[in-house]
Amino acid sequence: RLPVSLPQLAEKKRLGEPIVMVTAYDYPSAVVAEQAGVDVVLVGDSGAMTVLGYPSTVPVSVDEMIMLACATRRGLRTPLLVADLPFGSFEASDQQAIETARRFIKEAGADAVKLEANGVAAERARALVNAGIPVMGHVGLTPQTATALGGYRAQGRTAERALDVARDALALQEAGCFSIVFEAIPSQVASVLMERMEVPIIGIGAGAATDGQVLVFHDLLGIREGVGARFVKRYADLHDEMVAGVRAYAEDVRTQRYPEADHTYSIDPVEFERFSA
Ligand code: KIV
Ligand code: NA
Repeated sequence: RLPVSLPQLAEKKRLGEPIVMVTAYDYPSAVVAEQAGVDVVLVGDSGAMTVLGYPSTVPVSVDEMIMLACATRRGLRTPLLVADLPFGSFEASDQQAIETARRFIKEAGADAVKLEANGVAAERARALVNAGIPVMGHVGLTPQTATALGGYRAQGRTAERALDVARDALALQEAGCFSIVFEAIPSQVASVLMERMEVPIIGIGAGAATDGQVLVFHDLLGIREGVGARFVKRYADLHDEMVAGVRAYAEDVRTQRYPEADHTYSIDPVEFERFSA
């Protein structure tokens, strides 16, 4: 397969072919995404929580995100690679946004960056696009500013708040974003917004009317404990399988069932004789 390009995503929207996006944060998850044939891989700042163990996405640094993006890049050939600009890395000025985004492109080999609607996002997106950096937008539930939104909850559930989401989406589209994520908004609101969206829209908890879907790798594979958000569909329970695997190994070591002869090396008897003499 040839690497996925921005025009190809636009073409998929035109043809009504759903776009598949998934997050990845390291080499093995990237290899899985590559082999599974997804279109877009996002090094999401959700990695702050899924792989770095922070309580939210807010504390993750650019350096940490760059390390995750570099590892992901090494496992990918085909999907478009998008990296999240973390909280505090692009808001202060257009200059700051361009410097941070350039690091993701140059050091990590990202194809594009993503930023969350937050009051200055459209202005920053325009500056990035003018600097030649492809930008994906993100509206609705924006975890970097979840405190101001009243926590991790669905957005756009009143007429006023649905209009806020619509304004954010249109501003990011107007600013030149090649695609936008709609997160956790009522499906009816997403459907109406779709009439105004000219760029591919990737939904997560936004219903079936969007041009594609995205899920967090660890959520869809059940690599973390707990139920997760309403929109998560679990396709595997790897956390439980991993615990069972490590537990079986521990049990084998403690009962001396591992290692067995098959797992050990041998030495030529003559060499062994010389060694032990
Ligand atoms: O960080 C992330 O995983 C995301 C997706 C949920 C869109 O931003
Ligand atoms: Na994110």
